[in-house]
Amino acid sequence: MKIENVTACVFDAYGTLFDVNSAAAKCKEKLGDKWEGFANAWRTTQLEYTWLRSLMKKYKNFWQITEDSLDHTMATFKIDKNMREELLNLYKELIPYPEVKECLDGLKSKKIKIAILSNGTPDLLKRLVESNNIQNYFDDIMSVENVGVYKPDSKVYEMPIKKYSCKPENICFLSSNTWDVSGGGIFGYNAIWVNRFNKIFDKLDYKPQHIINNLNQLLKLV
Ligand code: LAC
Repeated sequence: MKIENVTACVFDAYGTLFDVNSAAAKCKEKLGDKWEGFANAWRTTQLEYTWLRSLMKKYKNFWQITEDSLDHTMATFKIDKNMREELLNLYKELIPYPEVKECLDGLKSKKIKIAILSNGTPDLLKRLVESNNIQNYFDDIMSVENVGVYKPDSKVYEMPIKKYSCKPENICFLSSNTWDVSGGGIFGYNAIWVNRFNKIFDKLDYKPQHIINNLNQLLKLV
């Protein structure tokens, strides 16, 4: 089933376009068997800090939160402090999922705007797309930095609506993060859950209208 009247496809960045575990994965040998548990804990702590800081109205930018959550997780997993810089540098150049370029190529021919809407700082997002040479696909890269609060605050989801002078239903919002799909969907977007790893959706009184297993399946929807 096609989604009609789409002005823009708006992508979440971390976990949706870019593999957040790819930084720790590159250090598998040094981290040993615990690398994946460590990577997942770093990500979960990072997200918790975004939510907590939004609730406490104590905004700190996403890079600082990424550092704070790394420090906490390294201490928890007793990781050698010498790895800090290496992990942080790798996080600045996370790898996109394999199908990302093909999806963006396909979208380009459809005359739909392509954008990123992310917790990341403008600098981080610029470096992510440039280090992977996909910067030319995006019409806009929108960062929560402009509103000083994190997803899923509705101020974040309002940004593309204002930018494109359109209604929420004219936006296809793609995220692998279930809570971000709920946030965007409750806001009114056509929220599409990219469920690469066969996960269970949240119980937050919202069901995604569309579920795909990888981004290439988006090309059949728009
Ligand atoms: C982002 C986080 C939610 O890119 O993954 O906004």
